[in-house]
Amino acid sequence: MQATSILITGGAGFIGSRLAEQLAADACVTVLDNFLPQVHADGGALVRERLMDAGVSIIEGDIADPAAVSRAMQVSSPDLVYHLAAETGTGQSHDEPTRYVTVNVTGTAHLLEAIRAEGSVARVVLAGTRAVYGEGAACDSDGRPAIAETRDPARLARGQFDLQDAAGRTLTPLATDAATAPRPTSIYASSKLMQEYLLRQGLWGSGTDVSVLRLQNVYGAGQSLHNPYTGVLSIFCRLICDGQGIEIYEDGTITRDFVHVDDVVQAFIAAGRAETVPERPVDIGSGEGTTILDAARSLLGLWEAEGRPLWISGAYRPGDVRHAVADISAAQAALGWTPQVTLDEGLAELVDWSRITLAEVA
Ligand SMILES: NC(=O)c1ccc[n+]([C@@H]2O[C@H](COP(=O)([O-])OP(=O)(O)OC[C@H]3O[C@@H](n4cnc5c(N)ncnc54)[C@H](O)[C@@H]3O)[C@@H](O)[C@H]2O)c1
Repeated sequence: MQATSILITGGAGFIGSRLAEQLAADACVTVLDNFLPQVHADGGALVRERLMDAGVSIIEGDIADPAAVSRAMQVSSPDLVYHLAAETGTGQSHDEPTRYVTVNVTGTAHLLEAIRAEGSVARVVLAGTRAVYGEGAACDSDGRPAIAETRDPARLARGQFDLQDAAGRTLTPLATDAATAPRPTSIYASSKLMQEYLLRQGLWGSGTDVSVLRLQNVYGAGQSLHNPYTGVLSIFCRLICDGQGIEIYEDGTITRDFVHVDDVVQAFIAAGRAETVPERPVDIGSGEGTTILDAARSLLGLWEAEGRPLWISGAYRPGDVRHAVADISAAQAALGWTPQVTLDEGLAELVDWSRITLAEVA
């Protein structure tokens, strides 16, 4: 579909601001964002400038405030809504569940009610997360599909980090897609799954389609370098710049699928424009797993800080999953989308940008 008016919640954030800038070339774009201080250390001064230069309208308001959401909906009267506003830290959600449920769940309920009241919205695209899968798809030693249980804190405390099924058999992780049933292991993941349910169930049978992209670990220039709760590569850049070493959790072989923000923005644009909406959530990643240890080593190399301490601590965090890699065949088939940016290119760009940005604030 070709949208003429687009509302992006969380549109001042890392992904949302790049999406807003690109969409503003062809449509009226409005952003609803509360410029959360944890994300926007400068109060959002730089991003406001970027968005205004691109011709994007900004409404400062909280998704958890129904009046702000109604106002944004009425002012923009959008035919397409991208819902990105969220609290995003897995570990933080364990410590502050009310905050996560208020913003991610109640905020989405407000958006749903505002979409129904406005009646102009043909499609809503949700920024979902691969976190909803928990430990994700796995198979047993005979290659048969098996369910990976949420990892037991007692085993983790003994340094046993591998995946197991309910019978205690060790499992091998597989690339995951929407054929795998969600089994969230964190409050963040549960709140993000609830967003999917709210929009799908609340807009069922209405004139508003719901499209869900489940994103892997998005990285790139523009991700907050100050938010200690999300964006592991940005956190590492900050540590390196501050002259600190890097602690690697568990045994160093935690795997993540790092996908560049430019690729993710293209996936969102494709999801907004597709003639039909895929019935199932679509997984967006690079399709390749990288260990956190290897990612840290690459960053240290690019930063020319190879001598910096890098240690595997054996520590573990509530809600963390062991392996995450997307099966991206549905994204290719349904959206004609494939990632374009290699990890080497993306990391080099991230390091260059972090170096300049952190030098400016020093
Ligand atoms: N970055 C990733 O790796 C990743 C992975 C999976 C899913 N996602 C999802 O993508 C979306 C965007 O993530 P991001 O990486 O751009 O994060 P971000 O923190 O950079 O952006 C989120 C934006 O939402 C705003 N926001 C937060 N709480 C709000 C509230 N109560 N009201 C209004 N605005 C609020 C913030 O100010 C920020 O500008 C989120 O929904 C997140 O769950 C991100």
